[in-house]
Amino acid sequence: MPYTFDRSKALFERANRSIAAGVNSGIRKMEAPVPLYFTRGSGPNLWDVDNNHYLDFQLGQGALLYGHAPAGMAEAIGAQARLGTHWAAQCELEVEVAERIQQMIPSAELVRFNNSATEVVLSAFRLARAHTGRKLILRFEGHYHGWSDEGLVGFANPADKWGDDENPARLHPSKGVIPEVLDQFVVARWNDLAHLRRRVDQYRGQLAAIVFEPVLCNTCCLEPVPGLMAAIRELCDRDGMLMISDETITGFRFGAACAQGYYGFKPDLTVLGKAVGGGTPFAALAGTKAAMAKILSGEAVHAGTLNANPLCLAASKWSLDQILALGKAHPAGIQKMGERLMAGLGVLARENAIPLRPQGPGLIFHAVMLKPGATEGPIKDYRDYVRRHDAPRWAHLRRCLLEGGVRAIERGLWSISLAHTEADIDEALRRATGAFRRHAAEWQAPA
Ligand SMILES: Cc1ncc(COP(=O)(O)O)c(C=O)c1O
Repeated sequence: MPYTFDRSKALFERANRSIAAGVNSGIRKMEAPVPLYFTRGSGPNLWDVDNNHYLDFQLGQGALLYGHAPAGMAEAIGAQARLGTHWAAQCELEVEVAERIQQMIPSAELVRFNNSATEVVLSAFRLARAHTGRKLILRFEGHYHGWSDEGLVGFANPADKWGDDENPARLHPSKGVIPEVLDQFVVARWNDLAHLRRRVDQYRGQLAAIVFEPVLCNTCCLEPVPGLMAAIRELCDRDGMLMISDETITGFRFGAACAQGYYGFKPDLTVLGKAVGGGTPFAALAGTKAAMAKILSGEAVHAGTLNANPLCLAASKWSLDQILALGKAHPAGIQKMGERLMAGLGVLARENAIPLRPQGPGLIFHAVMLKPGATEGPIKDYRDYVRRHDAPRWAHLRRCLLEGGVRAIERGLWSISLAHTEADIDEALRRATGAFRRHAAEWQAPA
């Protein structure tokens, strides 16, 4: 029996009378048939107010690398809550967390804490400008760096305005943005080395930094082509720019040394969010001593009342200890499960003649749904994704999956947690079998 959502629907209706548009982050409205209201989670399991059970691969937009409500973390937070919830001052925990990050990530010679990765990105941009005395930041089309004015330039460029391949436009998806903010950025296409070199040369001497998601997870799931990270490093060294790796999603998911360890590169600054706090509002800026110099000297301001909040620190310390304890077993364990899930979804797609092509390194992957007539083969960048991915058809399949008890990220991303087991993957595929059949029977392309 497909799930029903009467209580979620009633709560959403009620919420619309007190919460603007009913949700507290715009993207949550994407969940169909209604934004869901949850009551509890445990490991890979999640229950909503209608008592529907989900095997969860949405995982709090990927933050819950350790699964829902891990028992040890609850104890760590609870113990800290009894001692104090907030001091806006120092405690030993913050040093312990900083030392763990330092131990795990070679480029993290120093750290600073914030409450969201959006803030950390802003700190990194400010630091890069202070460091170089230059204004421009080079970023890639389709990469997401938080929801601020500066974080979203070039993220969702519409096809009719995105400019030619050589000069991607600097557009912002939100109204209300200071127009001059757009002038602070240069947008390049992802995964095209020759284009990147030309773009950097065009603005040589004016660029403070190159920022990127090492695996582009916010548009499809696009690993860097061989040589891309080395080319960014080389260009940054050549021109005195800072290399900023936004590891909000990849951090600790790709191993203790994050994506930079997995792919073998050393950035100047790293943005950490999501898994670093295990689902609490916690984020960190990590970097080399040289890149952090303007914070050390006090010339670049970095502040925040709730920075290094002890509840978040307790959760972070517990989380990082899980990664440390796994040693070399991580990320291979979750990667194996993710690859099996991708393969299983691929088989179901073939059996039901659905053009679904899971893409990514397994630890995280994207359910690419090809448009009718689209060419086969991996997606390579943002434009390719917009041209070939059939978002409405994926949304229909996602809804069938949700109503069958499997929950992926709304726009198509799937994350595996350390709490998932092989049995959970089997069960997810068993549930997906019905969802794929239903989708194949019901799907009608819009006229
Ligand atoms: C790559 C990346 N950077 C930055 C952010 C912003 O993080 P937050 O929502 O914690 O501010 C996100 C959020 O999804 C992200 O995926």
